[in-house]
Amino acid sequence: MERTLIIIKPDGVQRGLVGEVIKRFEQRGLRIAGLKLMQIPRELAEEHYAEHKGKSFYESTVNYITSAPVVVMCLEGPNAIAAARQTMGATRPTEAAPGSIRADFGLDISRNIVHGSDSPATAEREIALYFKPEELISYQRSSDVWLKE
Ligand code: CDP
Ligand code: MG
Repeated sequence: MERTLIIIKPDGVQRGLVGEVIKRFEQRGLRIAGLKLMQIPRELAEEHYAEHKGKSFYESTVNYITSAPVVVMCLEGPNAIAAARQTMGATRPTEAAPGSIRADFGLDISRNIVHGSDSPATAEREIALYFKPEELISYQRSSDVWLKE
């Protein structure tokens, strides 16, 4: 069982895609362990994107993610990190697989709708940035037995 941190970015919220994005992760089989609407403070965004500090897109990406409310989710399930990244699609919407969120709803890398952790270590770090342990709920759905042997 893995956990991953997903953010529906400001463009996703502004464009009314919250339900659509959650639907795609939910229908994939991922289980919602934590969910909230928030506006990300600059300090938190800088910590989140620390690996990109110094790159050309760092400032604009921090400005973008802090510009309006986002929906933050912790999703869990077997292979949750890879499955969520596949459902999101590649960073650049024009390189994302057809049927992925970024391909179906995005045009440009600077407005790519959704964030997802890229490795187990990143997921652990990112979940801790956005959720207190008591905000995450572990539970079973009756459908979970049909998602993995
Ligand atoms: O989000 P993902 O992990 O797929 O990509 P990343 O390489 O970790 O980049 C983080 C975010 O920075 C992207 O999702 C874009 O929002 C932004 N970015 C950008 O605006 N222009 C780039 N050339 C690269 C990234
Ligand atoms: Mg990344």
